[in-house]
Amino acid sequence: VTVKVASSGGNATSPYQYGIMFEDINNSGDGGVYAELIQNRAFQGNTIDPSNLNYWNALGGADLKLRNLSKPLSSALPTSMQLSAGNGNTRSSTIGFSNVGFWGFPVVSSWEYKGSFYVYGSLDTNITVCLTSLSNEAYAEAHVEVKSTSSEWTQYHYTFQPTIDAPNSNATLNFTFPVSDLSSPVNFNLLSLFPPTYKSRENGLRVDLMEAMSDLKPKFFRAPGGNNVEGNSAPYWWNWTETIGPLTNRPGFPGTWGYENTNGLGLIEYMLWAEDLKMEPVLAVWSGFWLSGQAVPEDELKTYVNSALDELEFLMGDVSTKWGAYRESLGYGPFQINFVEVGNEDSLNGGAPTYAAYRFNAFYDAIKAAYPHMTIIASFYDVDGATPPFDAAGDFHEYAIPNQMAKQFGKFDNYTSEHPLLLGEYAVIEYNQPHTTGPQWTPGAPRAFTPFWYGSCAEAIFLLGAERNSDKIIGASYAPGFQNFNRWEWIPDLIEFDAYPGHTTLSTSYHMIKLLAGTLITENLPMTISDGGFGPAFFVAGRNSVTGSHIVKAVNYNSTGSTQFSFSFEGVGKGATGNLTYLTAPMNASNPIGGNVVQSHGSSVTASHDGVFHFKLPEYSIAVLEIGAE
Ligand code: AHR
Repeated sequence: VTVKVASSGGNATSPYQYGIMFEDINNSGDGGVYAELIQNRAFQGNTIDPSNLNYWNALGGADLKLRNLSKPLSSALPTSMQLSAGNGNTRSSTIGFSNVGFWGFPVVSSWEYKGSFYVYGSLDTNITVCLTSLSNEAYAEAHVEVKSTSSEWTQYHYTFQPTIDAPNSNATLNFTFPVSDLSSPVNFNLLSLFPPTYKSRENGLRVDLMEAMSDLKPKFFRAPGGNNVEGNSAPYWWNWTETIGPLTNRPGFPGTWGYENTNGLGLIEYMLWAEDLKMEPVLAVWSGFWLSGQAVPEDELKTYVNSALDELEFLMGDVSTKWGAYRESLGYGPFQINFVEVGNEDSLNGGAPTYAAYRFNAFYDAIKAAYPHMTIIASFYDVDGATPPFDAAGDFHEYAIPNQMAKQFGKFDNYTSEHPLLLGEYAVIEYNQPHTTGPQWTPGAPRAFTPFWYGSCAEAIFLLGAERNSDKIIGASYAPGFQNFNRWEWIPDLIEFDAYPGHTTLSTSYHMIKLLAGTLITENLPMTISDGGFGPAFFVAGRNSVTGSHIVKAVNYNSTGSTQFSFSFEGVGKGATGNLTYLTAPMNASNPIGGNVVQSHGSSVTASHDGVFHFKLPEYSIAVLEIGAE
């Protein structure tokens, strides 16, 4: 491939380009990025997922029951766990209960853990809270003086630090006290345990997963994205008002992926997540549609439009506003919102009914009237079908097999520049198949368990297609972002993990994104191709106005051999030097748990006497050449 890159005539690119999409799926929030370690900490439930005692076990012959007391911990958390002395035959000298965590607990000796729980009922005792191995080795222990009465709920706090790093997460959290101190049933609720969190935020996020995201240098944050914003059926949807304030005010939500969401990871936590990773929030608001297919009728939609306006007032309003004042009372200054997405995958051309007919416009009109500066994004519409109305942007999703993904390099070349486009979800989800051009969507259709290398190369081609049109494309985010190995509904995912930090796995696609997002082109430059062309090599060129560098990004999607590249840049002369970084891996390889098959190769490339940068990329490789970075 021989290419000459002009020094002018290109396009300024979007400042966002690479971002993160987040929804609670695969226990990516509870049991994932949200650092809470106790599962089912407040016995939350609803008509879809009734309260239960899952993940709790009785110790010392205790009898555990769910109770809805006349004096609940709060109206949002009405159900608590009552402990009474069980059958005398099985009772031992201590009594209590244990929690199995999110399939175990991380045990790290350098961490100080912070715990708390509420008690109601007459109890004067010393509760031992112990992080214990499955073979009864005590890793960390705290003793909590409890003097509880039956007049009010009392909260107790404790801290502990394990004595060793456990080799795995096979541990439980045990709460025990002398059975002789128990004279009548006693009640517990909101039992919580946090490890250190990212930037030490209270009610915060898991450090290793946040660091992994930070290393991707993400520029935008689409949340709460995906199906989980919608709710499976009425009356439940991701109602932001139930995700703010003290944890005792948050009732939880029957997430759309088969497990209860605690709502501990709420709207403010999303905003702080965006702030901590310096990402532009792309806030999804509920659009009046449930996944069951039911939509809010037009004459009832105003309530939900107003709720979206209240949500924006909560985030951005000053203290003179009702919701802004409430946010200030919680201790947070205003946040800035510039992008709002209305719903998820509603589709303007026929998908979710009534979106095009009245729902999108109702949200658009109201939000735009209150906040003219905002970009309003219509959720999922086919680039080849309808166009968003007014000046709205669109959100395009693509789940594909590798060759199908790679074919989309040119998909956005003729896309209108009047409606910016977010690529809010993309992923290669299955290996190439002999007789199909795309993935099957029937239940149980085959899926790759994790991203694999030639799929990641195909995604890179799709992303370069976005980069070369990034005057029109806001940015792209892989989806889903996270998978807990113990419970998942959707594969493949970008980052996998379980309770044991050593199992955190950054996929092949993660490494691909890290390379492409690590060097941003701020101005695409026109290319004249004199030899070769697109396929199996794909490439973009441009420069970065901050570092002053010239950049080539390239993919060799060739299964049988290397490709030779010769790039020259107008204004860059002989002897100039660039840094070439390229990634390789075996074609079908996926990253094993905690491991990495992707190899990074680095070398410097000096322009020849006629100012040409020659470099060769092996089969299935992804490269960035950066010349003259200051
Ligand atoms: O990313 C998984 C799901 O795929 C999302 O919830 C939905 O938006 C899409 O269909």
